[in-house]
Amino acid sequence: MKLRHVVESQQFTLPMLMELFQIAGQMEKVLARGGTQDYQSKIMASLFYEPSTRTRLSFESAMLRLGGKILSTENARTFSSVASGESLADTIRVLGDFADVIVLRHDEVGGAKRAAAVSSVPVVNAGDGKGGQHPTQALLDLYTIYKERGAIEGLKIAIAGDLAVGRTARSLSYLLGKFDRVMIYFVAPDVLQMKSDLLDHLAEHDVWFALESDFSKILPEVDVLYQTRIERERLGDRADQYDEIARSYFIDAAKVARMKEGSIILHPLPRLNEIAPEVDGDAHAAYFRQTRNGIAVRMALLATVLES
Ligand code: CP
Repeated sequence: MKLRHVVESQQFTLPMLMELFQIAGQMEKVLARGGTQDYQSKIMASLFYEPSTRTRLSFESAMLRLGGKILSTENARTFSSVASGESLADTIRVLGDFADVIVLRHDEVGGAKRAAAVSSVPVVNAGDGKGGQHPTQALLDLYTIYKERGAIEGLKIAIAGDLAVGRTARSLSYLLGKFDRVMIYFVAPDVLQMKSDLLDHLAEHDVWFALESDFSKILPEVDVLYQTRIERERLGDRADQYDEIARSYFIDAAKVARMKEGSIILHPLPRLNEIAPEVDGDAHAAYFRQTRNGIAVRMALLATVLES
């Protein structure tokens, strides 16, 4: 597979996804034996304009497990020349002389696309802006569903939380829409529902979806419940109803008991108070396995862009 930049979910075709999953499976075996030195001459720059735990550190872990080296700035707005007003374009041009691949989390929608347009080395989007995309998160989410369920086709998937700006929810929806007979339920308070551009995209591609405001009907139906955060300040003039809304979206043991056997709960993490810790040990709870899968998927992505 040829892969120059990883900017958005739409760029992946079904054959590319299947090949990526096959490489990720091989990378799991590489991980089991402690890594490889195959990429020891390669350098990855991680350039983060926003905080991150999982994405930055799992990319860095992935690169180290491949035998490569890393350059990292975890707070680029403060601790790089961006603080002196340097443009994203100039920063990316310069990093292309220092590294073989740039993993970028930017605080503006479209930041990764703008970076890719001027970069001499592959750019991987590690999340861009509120309402942008987070394609590598979506790829590891999809890989987790594939591993846990054996196939994606025909699954009923609920995506819940702040969908209006949730970049993981958006990126995952684009990927799910590529599989036959998938049914997507978007579960959110009205002010945080999925935006019409993405719904229009799904409709144009004949993907079945429904908008729900709570879990009451769908919990016993779904194969995958993808939970995300809801933050008080995002509720606008419904902010005074935050406690009530947060309670109704809270996944606790009572809600899990309504889910069917074999169904799974995912969360891109970090969680605030969307899933009770009492659920963590339940067989449905797949969110820590999901994070772990991210290392193999990111190794597969790095190896692919470095070979392309
Ligand atoms: N899932 C995710 O993007 O987590 P971080 O913000 O910790 O990278």
